[in-house]
Amino acid sequence: MAVKDDLRTPIVCVMGHVDHGKTSLLDNIRGSAVVSGEAGAITQHIGATEVPIRSIVDKCGNPGLLDQFVVPGLLFIDTPGHHAFTTLRSRGGALADLAIVIVDINEGFKPQTIESLHILKQHKTPFVVVANKIDKIHGWNPQKDSPFMASYNKQSEHVRTSLDNKFYEVIGELYNHGFSSDRYDRVADFQHNIGVIPISAITGEGIPDLLMVLLGLAQRFLESNLHYDATGPGVGTVLEVKEERGLGTTIDLILYDGTLKKGDTIVVGSLDEPIQTKVRAVLKPRVLSEINVEDKFKQVSKVTAAIGVKISAPNLDGALSGGSVRVATPETLETVVEEVRSEVEAVQIDTDQSGITIKADTIGSLEALVNELKKEDIPIRKADVGDISNRDIVEVSAIEDPFHSVIVGFNVNILPDAKEKLRSTGVKLFMNDVIYRLIDDYKDWIKEQRA
Ligand code: GTP
Ligand code: MG
Repeated sequence: MAVKDDLRTPIVCVMGHVDHGKTSLLDNIRGSAVVSGEAGAITQHIGATEVPIRSIVDKCGNPGLLDQFVVPGLLFIDTPGHHAFTTLRSRGGALADLAIVIVDINEGFKPQTIESLHILKQHKTPFVVVANKIDKIHGWNPQKDSPFMASYNKQSEHVRTSLDNKFYEVIGELYNHGFSSDRYDRVADFQHNIGVIPISAITGEGIPDLLMVLLGLAQRFLESNLHYDATGPGVGTVLEVKEERGLGTTIDLILYDGTLKKGDTIVVGSLDEPIQTKVRAVLKPRVLSEINVEDKFKQVSKVTAAIGVKISAPNLDGALSGGSVRVATPETLETVVEEVRSEVEAVQIDTDQSGITIKADTIGSLEALVNELKKEDIPIRKADVGDISNRDIVEVSAIEDPFHSVIVGFNVNILPDAKEKLRSTGVKLFMNDVIYRLIDDYKDWIKEQRA
């Protein structure tokens, strides 16, 4: 077997709680040092990194493996929290093919770990769990880049016991949240049992095992889904809308199907009319480099899925994070505009006569929030993307029912003038970056008010 041309690169989302090691893990995989260059080692923006199969196989330490795998590589998406996962969606579901949920083995589960698991379950996305930072276990004897078992066998008995105890706590937590799991080398069927891999993103221990499991998953469960038409029109999702010096407003996007060329007409999702524009430049980060820190983009004439690219084009102001980007021809333009419009409207319009007001950072996270609120039978008057504005406060303050004079903001900020306004109104505001926290806080508040 060898790499097949008609298979696109699987998209792997790395999810987990703040500081549990997402960026460090990818850093180790690509052998660079993004973490050390980041302000406060916090991922400020969304990034995508393409790792070719050859680099992955090298990392596994067994070049013979190259013949066993048919995927061209893996495209890793690293984000704060679970932002990318809720952003990256295609019609009818989330876009990631696979996910890694990372948990600090010494800290255990945190709210965003649990939320990540819920999102993955809802979308039926195959995933593995990594128990990170094993090198921090007291007395650990590091074995750089070693497969997990080789490293484990070199540890003293009490270190092994300590690891086993922490590890089984992770397995126990997964069980409590409805997932049956086991250490990856004991899992026969990864679809019914979650594989958990102990690793260190710093020493590289366990990372060969993780990559092997990921490739195995991609191969076994996804090959049939990864066939694509490289010559078809490009389809992607906007990760971020950014101002770039000399380029004006640009969009970072993940292209997940087809081809995108310089000069193509594209339709981009917006809260107003879909944007129709022409691609001025396709800017590609170098392979093995990180789209955020790489400011020397390479101009290319075309790209094929799956890939993270930056696009420069006129009129991109108002492009929507999490919205679609679709290539159109004169013949398809009308249909494509309609498709993009209905994708945005599907989330915005489906609201009740009266209810609370919600705001989220992307169209995808808004959808996730709407879904969760509906499960709880909490009515929504208005659902919108963006920071909480003065206008939101004014509108909501006019609502008489105190239980509905409420704004729930997920992953958004409150603008300064809105903050000012809030003080002089009776509007109740909830903000958080964990959906179920928001819902619990709202429900607790309702209970309190009724008591
Ligand atoms: P956010 O992007 O802020 O959500 O965090 P993150 O999940 O990307 O975590 P990051 O990779 O930035 O790691 C947070 C801190 O933990 C950094 O100081 C890393 O050096 C440290 N760290 C990550 N993985 C390991 C590990 O395996 N071992 C040890 N000892 N430290 C680690
Ligand atoms: Mg990070």
